[in-house]
Amino acid sequence: MNPTTTTAPLAAAPIAGLPPTFQWGVATSAYQIEGAAFEDGRTPSIWDTFCRKPGAVHNGDHGDVACDHYHRMPQDVALIKSLGVDAYRFSVSWPRVQPGGRGPVNPAGLAFYDRLVDELLANGIDPWVTLYHWDLPQELEDAGGWPVRDTAYRFADYVALVFDKLQDRVATFTTLNEPWCSAWLGYHAGIHAPGRQNFDDHLSAVHHLLLGHGLAMQRMRARETRPHTYGITLNMGTADPASDTDIDRDAARRADGMGLRIYLDPLRHGRYPADVVADLAARGKAFPVVDGDLEVISAPFEVLGVNFYFGQDFAGTDESGNTHDADGEPVVRAVLPDTPRTAMNWPITPDRFTQLLVRLHRDYPGLPMVITENGAAFPDAPDSSGFVADDARTAYLATHLAAVADARAQGADVRGYFAWSLMDNFEWAEGYAKRFGIVHVDYESQVRTPKQSALWFRDTIARTREA
Ligand code: FCB
Repeated sequence: MNPTTTTAPLAAAPIAGLPPTFQWGVATSAYQIEGAAFEDGRTPSIWDTFCRKPGAVHNGDHGDVACDHYHRMPQDVALIKSLGVDAYRFSVSWPRVQPGGRGPVNPAGLAFYDRLVDELLANGIDPWVTLYHWDLPQELEDAGGWPVRDTAYRFADYVALVFDKLQDRVATFTTLNEPWCSAWLGYHAGIHAPGRQNFDDHLSAVHHLLLGHGLAMQRMRARETRPHTYGITLNMGTADPASDTDIDRDAARRADGMGLRIYLDPLRHGRYPADVVADLAARGKAFPVVDGDLEVISAPFEVLGVNFYFGQDFAGTDESGNTHDADGEPVVRAVLPDTPRTAMNWPITPDRFTQLLVRLHRDYPGLPMVITENGAAFPDAPDSSGFVADDARTAYLATHLAAVADARAQGADVRGYFAWSLMDNFEWAEGYAKRFGIVHVDYESQVRTPKQSALWFRDTIARTREA
């Protein structure tokens, strides 16, 4: 921690209701922090390519250097340790470990994660591995990407390579981070890599991502030499009707179906939701399910990773009152709750966080949850020493941790919380312009300076443990 800091952190108090076993952590992902994009045999991912597409990423930013974590890993682990967290959630870069996405392992690439895991364990920090945080090897995209079934099998092969190396020391493996973002933002909205705009590709991607999860789970369980905790991380919000009309209620149902239930229903119930299947059938569309897929997808797992940033409402009319768009499809329009916003223009809705967690507990019972991401971007202004007095981020963390405690009090089985993010990093289409870190990064000098929120988080963890 920064011993020269003179600004007093906001008073940290214990978060009532979080037990001593509650797991505290910070999270990052490979492409957002590592840099070293062309070193030790790594090949391009879809994000390296997308970043080079004019206009795709703010300011033409890319992850070539990012936070240079690949070269600064031991210092970054020391930083994590200084926060007093139990665990660190990071992702493994597929094109670093298996260049091109098929074939043998790249020992130099895998060695980085081997060193990282050892460094974490030597510092008493539990490594939480995410196997896929959006960096699909470009060659697999060239062969069709996630809309193609073979990609799911390629993913399972890659997972086996990572698992064989790390399973002796890593207790928790999660397969995918936020498949909704991969499928919807990447293949339908076109605002994330690979930037396609095709609804059918999106549907196929959803199914093959889920299949990839299931196949990877099979491979890991078959190879394990000791028990592990397995899971998947989904980004979820709330989808309430913008008003109490049938048309808005139906829009909210559709949004919830495509945003949350098409993932959790197959994973937990072994079927796609009947209403979504019917909506799709009315458009002549369907998920490309092959016999047996849903059994693979719905195999039990131990933990659901929940990424929450905000909740929203939905209306079934556009701003001119039309109920159907130019293609004749029903309008599903997000309406942001009337609350203060973050720098992402995301509404600050801690009450919806409680609502989501209680709903997950009700609709998908018996599944322990860990918050694998929660946090906020704000326009941080460092003082001359680089210190950021980020009251707004601190308040965001405080109110959302209280929301987790509220959900637990209502029965939701939430066992841990990872702040997004350990440090400022490459925020995808927003480039480096949006800062989510609790640690400030000066990208010129690569100096890391814990923000007030980091000091608050450290003290809150310590006081909650003591309480
Ligand atoms: C999530 C991503 C994470 C980060 C946060 C702000 O959707 O998983 O990498 O970009 O949003």
